[in-house]
Amino acid sequence: MKRSEVRNILVAGGGMMGKNIAFVFSSEPSFRVTVYDIRETDVPGGIRLSCAQLLEKGVLDPGELEERLGRIGFTTDLDSEAVKSADLVVEAVFEDMGVKRETFAKLEARCRPETIFCTNTSVMSPSEISRELKYRERFVGTHFWNPGHLIPLVEVVKSDATSDETAQTVMEVLSDVGKKPVLCRKDVPGFIANRMQHALWREAISIVENGIADAETVDLAVKYSFGLRLGQLGPMENADMVGTDLTWSIHDYILRDLEDSHRPSPLLTKLKEEGKLGFKTGEGFQKWTPEETAASAAALNEYLIDMLYS
Ligand SMILES: NC(=O)c1ccc[n+]([C@@H]2O[C@H](COP(=O)([O-])OP(=O)(O)OC[C@H]3O[C@@H](n4cnc5c(N)ncnc54)[C@H](O)[C@@H]3O)[C@@H](O)[C@H]2O)c1
Repeated sequence: MKRSEVRNILVAGGGMMGKNIAFVFSSEPSFRVTVYDIRETDVPGGIRLSCAQLLEKGVLDPGELEERLGRIGFTTDLDSEAVKSADLVVEAVFEDMGVKRETFAKLEARCRPETIFCTNTSVMSPSEISRELKYRERFVGTHFWNPGHLIPLVEVVKSDATSDETAQTVMEVLSDVGKKPVLCRKDVPGFIANRMQHALWREAISIVENGIADAETVDLAVKYSFGLRLGQLGPMENADMVGTDLTWSIHDYILRDLEDSHRPSPLLTKLKEEGKLGFKTGEGFQKWTPEETAASAAALNEYLIDMLYS
């Protein structure tokens, strides 16, 4: 299917990600967006909540929000017209292989053979999720990042069967709704960005575990140094900026000392086993009050809005 043929968008799963993904697609006036969920869900209410800070900061006009909400429908009926006529489906149901496979099997039995299927899985293999489908070439991963209505990146992940045309169409649709799609050419765990993110987290945890610095200091070291640059200067451009010769010398000296464990760290395992689960329980690597956890989420949204819209 070509980009020009895409009009009807179905978002399967109206949870935290699904609502925000539906809102993203509603930015294109020619799209008719429907959220499908197995249970009744207040999609407009959830979107209004997500958009509160955008409204407060004047980035989103209340009239535009209402207009966009008017383009988003909701159904719990798999046999509805919205499912049958979907051109592109983005699945955001529970992160469970069985649930995802079953959802796509049911959708494939009802949608047209041309319909493009996308999965918003965070970590699962699109090749595995689509293994039992008939039209595997029109199945692709679309990994939106949370909060889905703010973070621009969507990783478009080819499975072992995704056609170039499917990937291309999805990239174009995502660009048209204001996202920054990037193509992940191989179906590997963590796709592109989470591989890098968790390489950093592994080292950060190791620094704490080995008593080199405490958790708060690790975060300060990131926020006030390369974290500031990253939004403008990625690691590959940075390596060229300082020179591949200097990068080689640094790696020749330091890589042998960096954390390279293939298992979750003993410290992380201990915290998990002791029920120190972070914000959820008030303690993880650090202690957190309910006020601090609420302030953290609000501060992140505010920071993202200032960065993206100021
Ligand atoms: N939360 C994140 O930070 C994040 C980030 C990126 C990707 N994801 C991925 O997005 C997907 C959804 O995550 P979420 O955080 O929105 O979860 P969620 O639990 O908030 O929402 C899941 C929704 O799917 C619905 N659902 C479950 N089974 C269904 C079915 N068979 N058919 C239709 N709807 C069904 C549920 O009723 C619920 O509303 C997951 O695959 C997750 O890994 C999550």
